[in-house]
Amino acid sequence: MGGPATASVPLRLGNHSYDVLIGPGVRTSLPGIVRRLGAGRAVVVSARPAEWVPDTGVETLLLPARDGERDKTLATVEALCGEFVRFGLTRSDVVVSCGGGTTTDVVGLAAALYHRGVAVVHLPTSLLAQVDAGVGGKTAVNLPAGKNLVGAYWQPSAVLCDTDYLSTLPPRELRNGLGEIARCHFIGAPDLRGLPLAEQITAGVSLKARVVERDERDTGARHILNYGHTLGHALEQATGFALRHGEAVAIGTVFAGRLAGALGRIDQARVAEHLEVVRHYGLPTSLPDGVEPEALVRLMRHDKKAFDGLAFVLDGPRGAELVSDVPHDVVIRVLDGMPRAHLAELVG
Ligand code: GLY
Repeated sequence: MGGPATASVPLRLGNHSYDVLIGPGVRTSLPGIVRRLGAGRAVVVSARPAEWVPDTGVETLLLPARDGERDKTLATVEALCGEFVRFGLTRSDVVVSCGGGTTTDVVGLAAALYHRGVAVVHLPTSLLAQVDAGVGGKTAVNLPAGKNLVGAYWQPSAVLCDTDYLSTLPPRELRNGLGEIARCHFIGAPDLRGLPLAEQITAGVSLKARVVERDERDTGARHILNYGHTLGHALEQATGFALRHGEAVAIGTVFAGRLAGALGRIDQARVAEHLEVVRHYGLPTSLPDGVEPEALVRLMRHDKKAFDGLAFVLDGPRGAELVSDVPHDVVIRVLDGMPRAHLAELVG
């Protein structure tokens, strides 16, 4: 399996610790992991064609899935659990997810709830899911009222980030994941520009692992993973999700640099570094035409981190941290000062 190019990043979380393997071919580690778990049966829920699904080494039910927000619902969780029952999956068996972040989210939640928790192994197949969504144990589905409103913390037993999957991604999907890598530059990762992609993934996962170890339940330190996300989430909504998550986070990262500069938390060179890093990854740096600053502020006030007025994760003398009660007029001024571009140019 894996060979010398394989990296292994541990997540040390007491009796639910696990490793994230990263590299070409690591999906072939799956039967060994299933054996170690002592599972007699597996349900593999896959948004990828059957030829990309590795052997589990035990009796297996393969269920098709669709990546995307449309299927990230409680109805999908219920349908999956119904299939688990019909197959005879027990609490000592295993569920495997194979797909992008929406698939790891919904399958992770089904595993968390079935028999009050059955082991799950994630095989994230998108760059975004390998760097972020598939690691750290957050699972959730959407309600009509909003994204990720119902979920659980349910750590996987292993995560296999097989970089072979990335060769199947369209360029825009790959770029989407680079948005999460770019934001690592400002939350404690070394400069990853120019490194091979697998090394960038490993660095992003290592950073996330250390943060999750300190704050598994997102009560403090884990907020920094949402660098660039407050404006990013608002932009996704304001554009009717025409901007992909990573694209919106990239613009949110440039904005976070400008806002930190306007608040005197960082100097102009560091503000400029935000633009340079995001640009390096080929990601958008301007606000889309026609999206009004006041409308964005309204959306940001509904962001789940804005529990105390307008709150942003911002760079500063102590590194990135959550800053509450950012004055409304400063946010509007910084948004007004952002360059603008037509949406079609931003999504490349
Ligand atoms: N995606 C951010 C987190 O896992 O906390």
